[in-house]
Amino acid sequence: MQKYKNIFIFDHPLIKHKVSILRDKNTGMKEFRELIEEITTIMTYESMRDVELLPIEVETPLEKTVQYRIPEESIAIVPILRAGLGMVNGVHKVFPTARVGHIGMYRDETTLEPREYYCKLPEGIEDKMVFLVDPMLATGGSACDALRALKSRGVKRIKFMAIIAAPEGMEAVAAAHPDVPVYISTVDRCLNEHGYILPGLGDAGDRLYGTK
Ligand code: PRP
Ligand code: URA
Repeated sequence: MQKYKNIFIFDHPLIKHKVSILRDKNTGMKEFRELIEEITTIMTYESMRDVELLPIEVETPLEKTVQYRIPEESIAIVPILRAGLGMVNGVHKVFPTARVGHIGMYRDETTLEPREYYCKLPEGIEDKMVFLVDPMLATGGSACDALRALKSRGVKRIKFMAIIAAPEGMEAVAAAHPDVPVYISTVDRCLNEHGYILPGLGDAGDRLYGTK
């Protein structure tokens, strides 16, 4: 049974397969980046099941028909820097014209508290459906603050996607933002004393960009 009404966990064999390679410490930077992108694309498909479609008239070579389209211009992507950047292309594969905003957050390594250091959002963001993306949901501090930052700028429709989540982070987001649908590919066991997800995949930003 679903524990939190707003949290959707994918139980898809293809995602499980790809996440298992992502976790492997021997997976190199290039493959890691490609996997993050592929998993995000699959998650994007799955998270769009409830999207509102607009009826439009289409003329086929044979006749006119009423068909349905997603209003693509109303979609935006907001990665939480840095690691969220790795997910942007995955959403762009499905919605290539989506505008991109950026929220910069880092975790203070001692307190584990998130700090916002950058925020630049596309014009008209208030009226868009925003995909907030970050591969890791650990304590939930970064996601909760990023959601607060978007809401305080008038954004009303948000979907948050994270690839790996700790139960602690899911609980924090469900409590602070019960109105936001959250899509998670895999739920892990717990956090260690440094706030890392176990078994996890290590530091997503470092593995994406080869900083360590
Ligand atoms: C990582 C990750 C999330 C955050 C999750 O970012 O990408 O943003 O930690 O942790 P939380 O749920 O406890 O807030 P990090 O702060 O390491 O920054 P980086 O993306 O620049 O590496
Ligand atoms: N951020 C990461 O990149 N990995 C974790 O396990 C926790 C936070």
